[in-house]
Amino acid sequence: MPFMADQDPATRAAALRAQLLHHAHRYYVLDEPEIPDTEYDRLFRELQALEAAHPELLTPDSPTRRVIGRVLDGFAPVRHAVAMLSIRTETDTTAAGAMAFDERVRRELGLGEDAPPVEYAAELKFDGLAINLRYEAGVLVQAATRGDGETGEDVTQNIRTVRGWPGAGGQVPQHLDGAAPAVLEVRGEVYMRRDAFERLNQRQRERGEKTFVNPRNAAAGAVRQLDPAIAAQRPLSFFAYGLGETEGWTPPETHSATLDALSAMGVPVCADRQVVQGAAGLVAFHQAMGARRDALPFDIDGVVYKVNSVALQKRLGFVTREPRWAVAHKYPAQEQMTRLNGIEIQVGRTGKLTPVARLEPVFVGGTTVSNATLHNVFELRRKGVRPGDRVIVRRAGDVIPEVVGRVPGVRASYVPNFRMPAACPVCGSQVLREKGGIDHRCSGGLFCAAQRKQALLHFAGRRAMDIEGLGDKLVDQLVDSGLIRILPDLYTLASDAGRARLSALERMAEKSAANLVDGLEKSKHTTLARFLYAMGIRHVGEATARDLARHFGGIERLIDASVEQLLEVGDVGPVVARSIHSFFRQVHNREVVQQLRGAGITWPEHDAAVADTASRPLAGKTLVLTGTLPTLTRDEAKALVEAAGGKVAGSVSKKTDYVVAGSEAGSKLDKARELGVAVLDEAGLKGLLDAAR
Ligand code: IVH
Repeated sequence: MPFMADQDPATRAAALRAQLLHHAHRYYVLDEPEIPDTEYDRLFRELQALEAAHPELLTPDSPTRRVIGRVLDGFAPVRHAVAMLSIRTETDTTAAGAMAFDERVRRELGLGEDAPPVEYAAELKFDGLAINLRYEAGVLVQAATRGDGETGEDVTQNIRTVRGWPGAGGQVPQHLDGAAPAVLEVRGEVYMRRDAFERLNQRQRERGEKTFVNPRNAAAGAVRQLDPAIAAQRPLSFFAYGLGETEGWTPPETHSATLDALSAMGVPVCADRQVVQGAAGLVAFHQAMGARRDALPFDIDGVVYKVNSVALQKRLGFVTREPRWAVAHKYPAQEQMTRLNGIEIQVGRTGKLTPVARLEPVFVGGTTVSNATLHNVFELRRKGVRPGDRVIVRRAGDVIPEVVGRVPGVRASYVPNFRMPAACPVCGSQVLREKGGIDHRCSGGLFCAAQRKQALLHFAGRRAMDIEGLGDKLVDQLVDSGLIRILPDLYTLASDAGRARLSALERMAEKSAANLVDGLEKSKHTTLARFLYAMGIRHVGEATARDLARHFGGIERLIDASVEQLLEVGDVGPVVARSIHSFFRQVHNREVVQQLRGAGITWPEHDAAVADTASRPLAGKTLVLTGTLPTLTRDEAKALVEAAGGKVAGSVSKKTDYVVAGSEAGSKLDKARELGVAVLDEAGLKGLLDAAR
């Protein structure tokens, strides 16, 4: 809400307090925020500024003065032995934010200009829920939320189900390794990885259930779920970042060494942390992690800097609710509020109709976003968004931006509920929905220009026919001008007549025409697997295409295969088999195959299986994956290895050819070193995979 000029400061302060309390309750207690964090921060700062200008307006219960959060009915309260405080947030996302913190620390420590730089522990700021884990004699006896900082909620049963992610660690240990102190409280964050979150929401969507706004809310909701069985179904992970009460243990003298010690006890600690010197070190860390933010498997909303020396931390002490020795330094928000200008329909390669939000452009997650997906009509209705609404847009990682919900408020006038059109907005064909399914599809097939464009882009893709020089813009032109009606038309562009027509296209430079013709020529020598994948048969991804190529050896046998014969292929199940079968029963699809071959597309037909093995760089090799890779999930890495003919094993032995290690790689990496097995990082793995391309 904009500042009301006609409101006097006292009325405005009261209104802000009421709003902040309402939103804090939605966020901390119900795990269902209505507004993005940036909006909350804005209101918070406005109140802070008002209170600073008019100290008489400050009330003891002002949200600016206390840690908000309350025990939810149903959980037993837990009084923290050592208060769980929050940290100051530096919202200036530029280098100045880090410099301001260093300056404050130096001033408060009384360090002159010539004094050496202060040493800091720099960490990621995980976007989840703070948890205190209490271990007595090495056994997990209690887990509690922060609550109001003094008293939290007993969520032990739910926290026991925090299992981490296959191969990436993150499990809350039930027992500590090694000689355990009498009491050790570990503080850290329970969070949900982005892949886990996407999968959870996908499942919710398929079941027609409510989706979660972001991984933080999904994680917080799971931890504070009264039924531990439900909590157990939500894939959660944990990272430690500090200590609470300890007894019978002298913690190390630095924060970084404390985290090392926790890690040695088997507590998950994020490997992306660093000990740095002075402001320059903080700035470098902020920048380096900012550049890697999208590639991390989980959301972070900033980094955290802590004075590394515990002795200096004690000297610095606390102010009201925050330690003076730590600060959170933010990154640009991944959620923002904007206006929904309209809803349009996009038609995908398989004809799927996706409602897309046209937005008032907004800077979110590092880029300006003006379109965002609304997934499907059911999802859209559940969210209840309509043109004119204020909505929350989220863009995290390289996931496509999405509208996560609307900000409650009055609608200007009556806006009708959105309906899926009965006819495709691109080609006018009938729109159908499978019985019980959630997706609407255009029935126009390749008659529909939208589907044709997407099919062409897929056909030309790097993993398919790999046609250089054929991008979206050109595809639009080729289809819209009528130069390309069916896939084989593409290759007629390489003829003299085709070239002439190409050059006649608007803004088509001689050079781009030549590049495309060149790209088309090169693409003609391919493999059967690539060709099959390029055809865009529903449910046939790269791996299935390879399996089919290997199994049948040639395309004729595949075209003639019955559903039963298709079912004999490795991972092909009934849905996939039926899809392939019905694809080749359609005369026009068989004609397309013949025409493409007639245009000169070839592959080593009879030796398909042999050629395939030779082009499979990891054929006969056994790999072991360990730790968190920077960009690939465990499943993705496994799929890539298998697609390249390799096998992924669970443990390292003399027979292992390579160990692929990411961050937090543990005993498997040690074993590899012990046995002298070659160790690769993600880049090394990709290098191997690309070797045969
Ligand atoms: S240290 C006394 N370190 O951010 C210092 N907090 O207000 C205690 N958070 O909700 C916090 N990552 O749960 C610290 N590496 C990190 C963190 C972190 C995330 C959360 C924490 C709290 C908020 C800080």
